Amino acid sequence: MAIEKKIILCGFGNVGRAFARLLAAKEEDLNARFGLAPRLEAVVDIGGAAVAEEQGLAPGRITDFVEAGGTVEKFESFGRPGLTAADLLGRVDADILVETTPTNLKDGEPARTHFMAAIENKLDIIAANKGPLVLDYRRILERACRQGVQIRFSAATAAALPTLDVGRLCTAGARIEAIEGILNGTTNYILSRMAREGCAYEDALRDAQALGIAETDPTLDVEGLDTRNKIVLIANTLFGLALDPCEVGTTGITGVTPADMAAAREAGNVIKLIGSARLTGNGPLVKVAPEALPADHPLAGVNLSEKGISYDTDTMGRITVTGGHSSPTGAAAAMLKDLIHLVKLGI
Ligand code: HSE
Repeated sequence: MAIEKKIILCGFGNVGRAFARLLAAKEEDLNARFGLAPRLEAVVDIGGAAVAEEQGLAPGRITDFVEAGGTVEKFESFGRPGLTAADLLGRVDADILVETTPTNLKDGEPARTHFMAAIENKLDIIAANKGPLVLDYRRILERACRQGVQIRFSAATAAALPTLDVGRLCTAGARIEAIEGILNGTTNYILSRMAREGCAYEDALRDAQALGIAETDPTLDVEGLDTRNKIVLIANTLFGLALDPCEVGTTGITGVTPADMAAAREAGNVIKLIGSARLTGNGPLVKVAPEALPADHPLAGVNLSEKGISYDTDTMGRITVTGGHSSPTGAAAAMLKDLIHLVKLGI
């Protein structure tokens, strides 16, 4: 008998829909390989919700409906115009909140309200949204811990690139001394196109947006804020910190000129936007800035929308993982991985 997990999916943009598509495409596989039967109990978007009745919502059908121009609150007989996630959480019987609304770094809303309601009602959380965790990491985790609620956020920490899994699980027993990462696909895509083809910054940004990898507000990408948010979440998790993101020195790529690119190339280097964190005798040193990496640096060959993370450890040496390019499907796959880990492995 497969384990049934009832899901409330908040946010039905690129990532939310990609997650629903994966639930549909992987239904048999999840059952056969993991004995897992996720059930889509409700989908909530800006105009309202769709709420299941006897059976879960058909994830493929609701995705087709919205991609054909429909809206969630008009989906078949399940649509509930005006119903919000805050209305639903606690009233609909569910096990897991999957949060994919756009990241808001001013006050974390509406995701912060969704997180708090989920915690209150003892739903585990799988989040792509970084806002609440970046702004209020310690309070959210403490509250979740008191309620026995698990929160997983692979999709918020470079998604298909396994950052926290490597840092938490694969290096268990080793001490991570320093972290360097290319954590944002959009900026890496822009820098790669500028370096390799001499592409204009604006054209490369437009192409990244067309690929669906840029944030809803792309200034989050190009000003380094998305990279900052990810390195903050990674450093908080792996170093046990509760960093104030505003205190992380952050420089994006908007000031990188074709002349900078040419000078780096001349010197045998390549410019990458690097998020880094290390523990020093004076406390944590965390920053985001474009850096000219030498050709033999393990992250120098990471191109286009691919990403990479490199850990310096005391006993395992340097461990680098690359790939996991940014895409809605990659983010959805990271959430599916979190779901499997959480339910089947308890990690
Ligand atoms: N905009 C991000 C990126 C994806 O380009 O990697 C979500 O974090």
